[in-house]
Amino acid sequence: MHRWLTTFFAAPLGGVCSTVSNRAAVATEGHAGAHGHAGPHCDNGGAGMHHGFADADALTKVFDDPARDEWQRPDDVLRALQLAPAMTVADIGAGTGYFAVRLARAVPAGEVIAADVEPDMVRYLNDRARREQFPNLHALQATPTASGLAAQSVDRILVVHVWHHLAGRADYARDLAAALRPGGKLFIVDYCLTAHRGPPANLRVAPEVIIAELSAAGLVAKVSPVTLPDQYIVEARRTP
Ligand SMILES: C[S@@+](CC[C@H](N)C(=O)[O-])C[C@H]1O[C@@H](n2cnc3c(N)ncnc32)[C@H](O)[C@@H]1O
Repeated sequence: MHRWLTTFFAAPLGGVCSTVSNRAAVATEGHAGAHGHAGPHCDNGGAGMHHGFADADALTKVFDDPARDEWQRPDDVLRALQLAPAMTVADIGAGTGYFAVRLARAVPAGEVIAADVEPDMVRYLNDRARREQFPNLHALQATPTASGLAAQSVDRILVVHVWHHLAGRADYARDLAAALRPGGKLFIVDYCLTAHRGPPANLRVAPEVIIAELSAAGLVAKVSPVTLPDQYIVEARRTP
């Protein structure tokens, strides 16, 4: 397991994300060297920056720790998404379902597609949907370079703490843009470069970089007015 994951919750709360300070240091995709992660990594054949999330039963203790709510502020994230009850929502890199189950509650007449590259996460998500009785929550096996979402199939896409793991982010942005229905929106939540928690600083991605990647994929992107401690939300909409 990542060393930073084990200290995920021990870190103090930081201030609200400052995009001004983020401009000072823009992370790039070319960070494949030593970067301080412990445990298995690059276990997708080196195709990206995926670092071993194979043990869902262990990781749920981190991802679904109730203490996360204090700084993650899931209700604020869902508010940013402006959900309607019958929407189809995709959670990309859903992990053990911290957001996916909240999304499933928020769209009782809709559907949540929880995609993850790790087969054990997919197994865990399906088990969790059954165990916690979310008939509208379905797991989807993603590949390192493709979400697996069908074209024009979803109203909202949420991507939390995943963007830096992706290989070929420009292509991945196009994959997600193609999956949006007309009027659909994509939301990427990640750590500020100055955050007091999260992955090593050299692995973080500035919101301006994500906005450029999403814009190149044909989306209209900006930083969301909804703010979180230590994280930013980038939102992007499909142009008609
Ligand atoms: C730090 S965890 C975040 C989990 C979840 N979004 C959350 O906020 O609790 C990153 C997750 O992204 C998944 N992941 C990494 N690369 C991926 C890819 N290319 N496609 C889909 N999922 C990916 C990992 O397997 C892992 O479950």
